[in-house]
Amino acid sequence: MTATDKIIKRWKKDFPSLERKTALITGGNRGLGKATAVGLAALGARVVIVSRDAGHGETARGEIAQLTGNERVSMLACDFNSLDNVRQLAQQYKALDWPLHILINNAGIMAFERQLTADGHESNFGINYLAHFLLTQELTGILTASAPARIINVSSSLHHKGRLNLDDLSIEDGYSGLDAYGRSKLAQILQANELARRLASAGVTANSVHPGVVATDLMRSLKGVRGLIMKTFIRRFLRTNEQGADTVVYLAASDKVAGDSGSFWANRRKMRVSNAAADAELAARLWEISLNLTDLPSTA
Ligand SMILES: NC(=O)c1ccc[n+]([C@@H]2O[C@H](COP(=O)([O-])OP(=O)(O)OC[C@H]3O[C@@H](n4cnc5c(N)ncnc54)[C@H](OP(=O)(O)O)[C@@H]3O)[C@@H](O)[C@H]2O)c1
Repeated sequence: MTATDKIIKRWKKDFPSLERKTALITGGNRGLGKATAVGLAALGARVVIVSRDAGHGETARGEIAQLTGNERVSMLACDFNSLDNVRQLAQQYKALDWPLHILINNAGIMAFERQLTADGHESNFGINYLAHFLLTQELTGILTASAPARIINVSSSLHHKGRLNLDDLSIEDGYSGLDAYGRSKLAQILQANELARRLASAGVTANSVHPGVVATDLMRSLKGVRGLIMKTFIRRFLRTNEQGADTVVYLAASDKVAGDSGSFWANRRKMRVSNAAADAELAARLWEISLNLTDLPSTA
């Protein structure tokens, strides 16, 4: 029995069937997102993975279906570097006319060099946070119509490094890749907490998760000796994709967390967040700014 077979067996023992559920997972073509898709497909869910590259996405879709024996796995292509592309993704999902019970905002980058998205946003913030903020807003109507539903933001313990200066979202001076990444992960927690408050009476929960330090390709933009050490030596001591996906699958599937909302999780347990991540006023201000940056009407 392979390690993947073993963890699938554990998930099937721990969690109920998801046969009546539909899940959308961004960044589902590799790494944690793909392992999460395998978990949810193995539990019987209808799974839609989102992939930046249609060819890679289609390959992953076939592999997930074959590994789990679940043919109800689909793929939509979207580059989160562009907000227009995210709007198209939401339209494509709406056109399917399927419910949505589980939204997993997982796609992400760790950009060690400062770069901008097509819309001019600092890329960690733009891709990890803002594009997913827009996707979630676009799909909230379907989520509430499908309630009970769950939103899960794949964040990180590195949010503790994040400082969110709402007056300098583009970080024009003193860019540090790790700080910028941490900031985007902080923004994801603030968004989940604000969603939890706003959707409390709608039967939609929102949580964020730290998957652990996992041997994925997330650090591929780390160059030089540090990059080499990470890609060769350190990698073998890290979690596997499936181990990293465990708490994400737990939040998506377990009956134990059915009513939990607005928490940050790791290793299937609630964890403390940074003071900034717990700041409800900051979350509300970020929410309004994000509506503005994504051309959505204010809800103030
Ligand atoms: N690995 C860790 O130790 C760790 C720890 C804490 C949190 N996380 C979080 O876990 C999530 C998944 O990361 P991972 O570790 O699985 O990394 P990964 O193997 O690099 O996978 C990242 C996924 O995001 C997709 N993605 C990146 N930029 C995109 C874009 N512009 N448009 C659409 N999709 C895009 C990638 O697509 P492509 O295949 O096309 O690049 C890929 O599917 C991220 O949010 C990350 O911040 C990871």
